[in-house]
Amino acid sequence: MIDFHSHVLPGIDDGSRDTDMSLAMLRMEQEQNVQAVVATPHFYAEQDSVKSFLKRRSHSMERLMRAAAYEGLAFMPIHSGAEVAYFRHIGEAAMIPQLCIQDSRVLLLELPFCQWESFVYEDIAELLRKQELTVVLAHVERYYRFQKDKVIWNAVMELPVYCQMNAGPFLDWRERKRSLDILKTQRCVLLGSDAHNLNSRKPNLREACSEIAKRAGEEYLEATEKLGSKLLGT
Ligand SMILES: [Fe+2]
Repeated sequence: MIDFHSHVLPGIDDGSRDTDMSLAMLRMEQEQNVQAVVATPHFYAEQDSVKSFLKRRSHSMERLMRAAAYEGLAFMPIHSGAEVAYFRHIGEAAMIPQLCIQDSRVLLLELPFCQWESFVYEDIAELLRKQELTVVLAHVERYYRFQKDKVIWNAVMELPVYCQMNAGPFLDWRERKRSLDILKTQRCVLLGSDAHNLNSRKPNLREACSEIAKRAGEEYLEATEKLGSKLLGT
C-alpha cells in the first residue's frame, strides 16, 4: 500500500503538530503495512512563496528524520510532495513544477470546494499541456457534492488526470457508495489517508483497503498499487 496523501510532516501545516505525533503516525502506517508515504503539506500560493515553503518542508523533514534516528526507528520511504491549492491561472505559473512529488512531474492538486467554472477546467488543461505535468486531483470525492451542474466535472474527469481518493469515506456508510461509484468509474485511482493526526484524521489506509477489496474487488487495489508505484518511480 502507498499512502499518496498525508500531513505527516511536523509543524508545517494543520497536520502533525510535532515530531512525536509524526513518529506515532508513521508507526501506525507501518503497522498497517504501508510501504511508502507521500508527505503532502498544504501549499497556498496567496499565503506563501514556493521558496519559503520548500525551505520549511525540508526543515520539517530533517527534524523528522533526526527524531526517528534518535529513537532508532526506521520507516518506509517518505516522498516529499505538496497539496497545492488551485488558484486562477495556476496553469501558467512557472514555479508549480517545483511543488511536484520528489523529483517527478507529478502534482497533487486540491481543487475548489464550490461549483467549478470553465476556467478551472482550462487551468488544469494548461498544467497538462503547457507544463506537461501529471496531475493528480486530491480527494476527488470531496468536490462532487458541489457540482450541481456536472458539465465541468465531466470535462475535468475526461482529461488525462489521475484521481486520488481518501480512505475515510470508504469507512463511512453515508459516503461509501459515492466513493465506490467514483472508484469504479475512474478505475485507476490513488488512495491516501489524508491523515492529519492520531485520532479524528488518523492513518486509516488498511481498513479502507479491506472495504474496497470486499465491496469492489481486489483488482481495484491492484490497479491502485500499480499506478502508485509507477508515479513514484518505484
Ligand atoms: Fe490533505
